[in-house]
Amino acid sequence: TREPICPVRYISNRSSGKMGYALAEAALNAGARTTLISGPVHLEPPSGATLLQVETTEEMLAASQAAAETADIFIGAAAVVDFKPTSVSDTKIKREGVATTTLDLVPNPDIIASIANSSPRPALVVGFAAETNDVETYAREKLRGKSLDFIFANDVSNTAIGFDSEYNAGVLISAESETPMQVSSKRVLAETIIEALSKQLS
Ligand code: C5P
Repeated sequence: TREPICPVRYISNRSSGKMGYALAEAALNAGARTTLISGPVHLEPPSGATLLQVETTEEMLAASQAAAETADIFIGAAAVVDFKPTSVSDTKIKREGVATTTLDLVPNPDIIASIANSSPRPALVVGFAAETNDVETYAREKLRGKSLDFIFANDVSNTAIGFDSEYNAGVLISAESETPMQVSSKRVLAETIIEALSKQLS
């Protein structure tokens, strides 16, 4: 997601969206009716998916809540911006004569936690946890804390995989299972994750 500061600046992060797009494609190939809710990325959407383009976290939350009402599986692979400015300037903030400045931020809503705690909720709510250390411990905390059914934990300290890479690797964790997944293309990994989820669903 992207959080505007003024008409020309925003806060975002290094996520490319590739994992989310690969998951949408794998879901389509597995025969699922698929809605892809996407922040601003430079990727070709898979044909056959309903594409909902959003910018801010609040917009992604609203689109997610609406789509989740009829979904069996909700996968949250978006790198949601954690904080947004308390106010957005209507005009470009000027640098002239400014020695130091501050930006006041407030936390954004947690989209996946809101979906997982809604009623009724999708049968499976699946999150992603990108961590740089103690990957599985933090992922398990998020699994419980956000009331998820699965979480895919990956180590983003390894720059060869994860953010913006074509490759990823990690562990798919539920309360009862732990499935390590070797380094592979995000496409292959997405197929493996979708297969595991559809097995669980059936
Ligand atoms: O807490 P953290 O951002 O590491 O959690 C990662 C998981 O939570 C991902 O599935 C991400 O899409 C989701 N998330 C969310 N809304 C937020 C922050 C994270 O849905 N505001």
